[in-house]
Amino acid sequence: MSGKSGCVVWFTGLSGAGKTTTARELLQQLRAKGIKSELLDGDELRTGICKGLGFSREERMENIRRIVYVSELLARNGVIAIVSAITPYKDMRDYARSAIADYAEVFVDCPLEECERRDVKGLYAKARNNEIERFTGISDPYDVPDRPEITLYSKDGSIEGNARQVFEWLEQAGYVSLCKEEMV
Ligand code: ADX
Repeated sequence: MSGKSGCVVWFTGLSGAGKTTTARELLQQLRAKGIKSELLDGDELRTGICKGLGFSREERMENIRRIVYVSELLARNGVIAIVSAITPYKDMRDYARSAIADYAEVFVDCPLEECERRDVKGLYAKARNNEIERFTGISDPYDVPDRPEITLYSKDGSIEGNARQVFEWLEQAGYVSLCKEEMV
């Protein structure tokens, strides 16, 4: 942490764990206080700058490489860049951590059974039916983060409270005051 610029808040976790919902709530909380912030969402980016990438190890790595590039640019320019992407492999997260000076990893911890029960997008059912290959948690690994800055429990914790926990971490680390919009 250099503590002199913006930062990247990287949400990792299983599909359906609540990464994007919590990240959106955090974005709202930050913007309500006039903090420069942006959200880079895996699902959305896969229709834009990451369009055409699949879910092989190499393609997921390429996906993450692009997200690291953009989020680092934003952070360097005084923005709190929130990333929401499964980021399943340890080496991807090690890469993100090494490439981004101000990096905070948020592990959205939710048991697979609960993600599967929610099955918001109906993808777990398809994965169990072998209609989707290499689905994270079912037929492709998710390496549990070993050194996240923050762990959120989405099964019991509230979305608002979990986002608040990240907000408070950012405040304590000094990023909230650094990324405040300048008054003109
Ligand atoms: S990552 O592995 O490269 O970090 P990313 O977060 O961008 O993944 O995209 C994950 C989203 O893609 C999931 O939330 C889900 O909607 C969709 N998806 C489609 N196929 C798969 C798959 N095989 N494994 C995981 N997610 C998939």
